[in-house]
Amino acid sequence: MVFKIKNISCIGAGFVGGPTMSVMASKCNDLFFHVVDINDERIDAWNNEDLSRLPIFEPGLKEIIENTRNKNLLFTTNIKAAIESADIIFISVNTPTKTRGIGAGKSSDLKWVEACARQVAEFSKGHTIIVEKSTLPVRTAEVIQKILNSATSDLENAKKSFSVLSNPEFLAEGTAIRDLENPDRVLIGGEDKSAMLLLSQIYENWVPKEKILFTNIWSSELAKLTSNAFLAQRVSSINSISAICEVTGANVREVSRAIGKDSRIGSKFLDSGPGFGGSCFKKDILNLVYLAEYFGLKEVAKFWEEVVNINNWHQKRIAQIVVQKLFGTISSKKIIILGFAFKANTNDTRESAAIRICKDLIYEGAELIIHDPKVSMLQIEKDLQIKQFSSGKNENIDYLNNNIGNWQFSNNLNIFDDAHAVLVLTEWEEYKYIEWDKVAKRMVKPAWIFDARSIVNIDLVKKSGLNLWSLGDGSQQGTKDEI
Ligand code: NAD
Ligand code: UGA
Repeated sequence: MVFKIKNISCIGAGFVGGPTMSVMASKCNDLFFHVVDINDERIDAWNNEDLSRLPIFEPGLKEIIENTRNKNLLFTTNIKAAIESADIIFISVNTPTKTRGIGAGKSSDLKWVEACARQVAEFSKGHTIIVEKSTLPVRTAEVIQKILNSATSDLENAKKSFSVLSNPEFLAEGTAIRDLENPDRVLIGGEDKSAMLLLSQIYENWVPKEKILFTNIWSSELAKLTSNAFLAQRVSSINSISAICEVTGANVREVSRAIGKDSRIGSKFLDSGPGFGGSCFKKDILNLVYLAEYFGLKEVAKFWEEVVNINNWHQKRIAQIVVQKLFGTISSKKIIILGFAFKANTNDTRESAAIRICKDLIYEGAELIIHDPKVSMLQIEKDLQIKQFSSGKNENIDYLNNNIGNWQFSNNLNIFDDAHAVLVLTEWEEYKYIEWDKVAKRMVKPAWIFDARSIVNIDLVKKSGLNLWSLGDGSQQGTKDEI
């Protein structure tokens, strides 16, 4: 019997599951897509009539949802029905770093993936192709297969069968729709050739065939971890160079431009910033570190762990520079934070450098005004685990009974009055056009602009009489001896 694909389900309606299925639905009109989640609020948000209130902000997403939702794309919490009807099931659930037990702090917590496999084993009917879309440790497919096999061992379930494939996702947040519509490659790893071809045929609706790569399942799982590790390694490399630039008088943008012209190095992913954030880089590198340690490859583990260590050091370094430039104390000084998302064009704050930097500044006693065009006050409160200052008195007292600093949220940029400093942490487009001459008049002198994304107009800032610290720009700062 020829196995034909008609119904596709995706377990997990998050940053990956939602946009990925939306784009697939828009490209494959003859297929029907269910996106399921255990989180009712998230599903309600995906079904919100008001498209500006989708749970995820991604340029181009709401237009796609408008054209597909409730046509061939359904967001639902009915997991049983979604699994029963599916020919293909994408597993797109969260795989965070384990916080306790064996491998805590490094290996991935696979409890959500295991729960999915058990649900699929229970509810599926006939033959089902299971696709790992989540980023997983190498050999997870084996675990999934074992759980599924146990479902076919009793007589009642004997009619069930499964093929497990790996099809990691390479989209980046903020450009998710563009990445999904025009991927550099689609990777399909597996053993079952016919299942691999069926999955490939879905992508061929919009992806040129030569961009679809077939590998064995373990190579596919490892390629995803490696890809993120290489990208993060570039960011840590250039951030480490930014520190050298600052003390030698070199400029990291010029260094990036110069090395990026070498076609072997390439120009992308060489922007020095406040340290990489996002839900995946750190988690995936630590996963690789755990894998290497598990197989006794200590030097390999140390090599990759250093990419994360440099990132942590770099984030701390930025807060320290702010304190140092403001005469060694920021107690009760008003500092404006521009941007809280881990990068522009997303409302995601997971692992954002802003979290650590803001916490450090608050603990030094600063009064922060945090602005972000897409992140909510509640999200920031959750991330900082420090309540927003609102009652007229500072309730954030530490265990020594010392007042620590505080923070307030603003969704407009009318916030510069009496500020001692501005710190740019996310490269939102609107920050490029700030009129620094007007801002300067409202700030306390000597006032500082700290630009950790190198986006402000240097000439305008300087003409306004403001002091400027631009990340990795030693030409602004003189050599270490002069300082
Ligand atoms: P997410 O946390 O935004 O979404 C995961 C969703 O899965 C959540 O809504 C959660 O409620 C749901 N879920 C968990 N267990 C479930 C179950 N048993 N049944 C139904 N729903 C369940 O995570 P994400 O950012 O979409 O990432 C998902 C995976 O994709 C991770 O492995 C991640 O590493 C990988 N990835 C993420 C990105 C990215 O840009 N965020 C890119 C590529 C790959
Ligand atoms: C990253 C990868 O780019 C995706 O291919 C991958 O699918 C995804 O992780 C994942 O597996 O989750 P993402 O984290 O969304 O995507 O965003 P990136 O554009 O990679 O940025 C990550 C972090 O690095 C951000 O904080 C960003 O500001 C920082 N970065 C990036 C720099 O500081 N400099 C750069 O030149 C590039």
